[in-house]
Amino acid sequence: MALYSDIVMDHFRNPRNVGVIQDADGVGEVGNAKCGDIMKIYLKIQDDKIEDVKFETFGCGSAIASSSMATEMIKGQPLSQALSLTNRAVAEALDGLPAHKLHCSVLAEEAIKSAIKDYYDKNGIAYDKKDFPDCESCAHGCEIDH
Ligand code: FES
Repeated sequence: MALYSDIVMDHFRNPRNVGVIQDADGVGEVGNAKCGDIMKIYLKIQDDKIEDVKFETFGCGSAIASSSMATEMIKGQPLSQALSLTNRAVAEALDGLPAHKLHCSVLAEEAIKSAIKDYYDKNGIAYDKKDFPDCESCAHGCEIDH
């Protein structure tokens, strides 16, 4: 069996939503301390809904495919839904990632959360801290560098 699914290869070769939103309402950037990869997510938000989303990922193919899939999954969705997106759901939508590449999908989840938090912070919107776990309380066991 091939290491990467056809869906991973498709999103890696033709990533959706690549780019920058100049007047973004929320921007999130996370890096993985282990591999040095960086992911940046830009959100345009209206009426608690993600009107548009773009990403820049300087990283491995799995990270690019995860960013592409994750942005497709949250586009047009309410913030609450984007907040509950897990890296597992992204990996499943990609028809799986090799075990040693699962951490790449964590970057996507974390970058989206970070962008939503940025939007809340900028607009003085109260939020539940539990929705934005820091590394010490997060269960992923990854090494994300915020
Ligand atoms: Fe760094 Fe995939 S190896 S995110």
